[in-house]
Amino acid sequence: MTTTSAPLTRTDRRLLALTAAADRRLVDPMAGFVDLEGVREAVEDLTKAFAPLGRVQHTVAAKACGLAPLLRFLGELGIDAEVASPGETAVAEAAGLRGPRLVLDSPAKTIAELAHALAEGTAVNADSFQELARLDRLVGATPPRSVLGVRVNPQVGAGRIGDTSTATAGSKFGIPLRDHGNRGLLLESFAHRPWLTRLHVHVGSQGCPPELLAAGVAAVHELAEEINAEAGYRQVTSLDLGGGLPVDFTSDDPGPTYAGYVATLLARVPSLADGRYAFVTEFGRSLLAKSGFLVSAVEYTKFAGGRHIAVTHAGAQVAARTVLQPEHWPLRIGALDPGGRPKTGPEVPQDIAGPLCFAGDLLARQRPLPLLEPGDFVVAHDTGAYYFGAHYAYNTLPRPAVHGFTVSPRGDVGFTPIRRTQTLAELVADAGGEFLEAPPAG
Ligand SMILES: Cc1ncc(COP(=O)(O)O)c(C=O)c1O
Repeated sequence: MTTTSAPLTRTDRRLLALTAAADRRLVDPMAGFVDLEGVREAVEDLTKAFAPLGRVQHTVAAKACGLAPLLRFLGELGIDAEVASPGETAVAEAAGLRGPRLVLDSPAKTIAELAHALAEGTAVNADSFQELARLDRLVGATPPRSVLGVRVNPQVGAGRIGDTSTATAGSKFGIPLRDHGNRGLLLESFAHRPWLTRLHVHVGSQGCPPELLAAGVAAVHELAEEINAEAGYRQVTSLDLGGGLPVDFTSDDPGPTYAGYVATLLARVPSLADGRYAFVTEFGRSLLAKSGFLVSAVEYTKFAGGRHIAVTHAGAQVAARTVLQPEHWPLRIGALDPGGRPKTGPEVPQDIAGPLCFAGDLLARQRPLPLLEPGDFVVAHDTGAYYFGAHYAYNTLPRPAVHGFTVSPRGDVGFTPIRRTQTLAELVADAGGEFLEAPPAG
């Protein structure tokens, strides 16, 4: 008789990976981990959910975790990339995502970046009327190979977090649709440029409820219909819906689902499913956050002014938003013993401190956890997006290693390198070390 056991959950895989990582001494003194099966599951959920919309190009927002092996892994799963800088473009191209597999969004594209995108056939979303004028000169008389569009700010308002809300009245992103005269100017812009065929919207990132994202999509859909009516043909053929689906950082539950989001979109604009438009998506956090976690050794512990403090290596260099805006970006923290297993014992409020030289460098404050000791580990959950991929170079701290992992049905864990720790030699080079040999100025 054969027995089939239930497939391992994300939580099971993480527990197994944590003990294997401790066993193999991969946390030295800090490392990021990516559950590759978790990423694959998120991609599957995404593509299934959007199937009713017909032709959809899914991209991952490279800013969320633009590590080359991860982009290549996503590329092999059929996910392209949204890039917003020459660096992100170069990494994505190195990972094999080139030309039409990239979408270039940024409010500050240089002429060189635009020229590169046009030469490669990379899609571009122009962010301003001034950028459109640059595109006029670059496109010239030959029809471009790139899909070219315009990012519109639908001005539907902010979500819960001001700093990541991009559809406010005065946002720096896109062309503000409701500002006086802009609707007419947009209609004219499309009328004069038959090569403009796309509208782009990205309402915000985390803290924006699906209904707000859908309001932004509804606004650009309405504008596309108006442009097409004026043109007398279907000039706008695709809508780039951006990213922004929020993530639940309070538990292992996935939070809002892609299927729920698509249902919200279709409730708001049923005709999105009529096949007349192709679509692009640019999710970052919802694709990756839940599949990543960050582990740091506890180096020392202290008791100061009545507070227990665990001094770790995980501070603002890997978690800038959490440290600087803890009210908006709290993380779940787990306490692990030296074997990587969940630590047991009575819970005591503790500050989880990072190594940076400012007092506020705390990953968590007064968090009830079994009392940590040197040699233990802490794990910061749901950090697969915008954490270990977005380094802040204060105190010349190195970027930590990142390991991908898979777990066999029997529970064997295999690690694959995604990034190694920055070496001291690389830190010296980053600090201008190459110029030490130059003759002194003057
Ligand atoms: C233009 C654009 N697209 C997509 C994203 C990804 O957003 P999220 O990670 O919330 O899905 C961002 C994030 O800031 C963005 O600016």
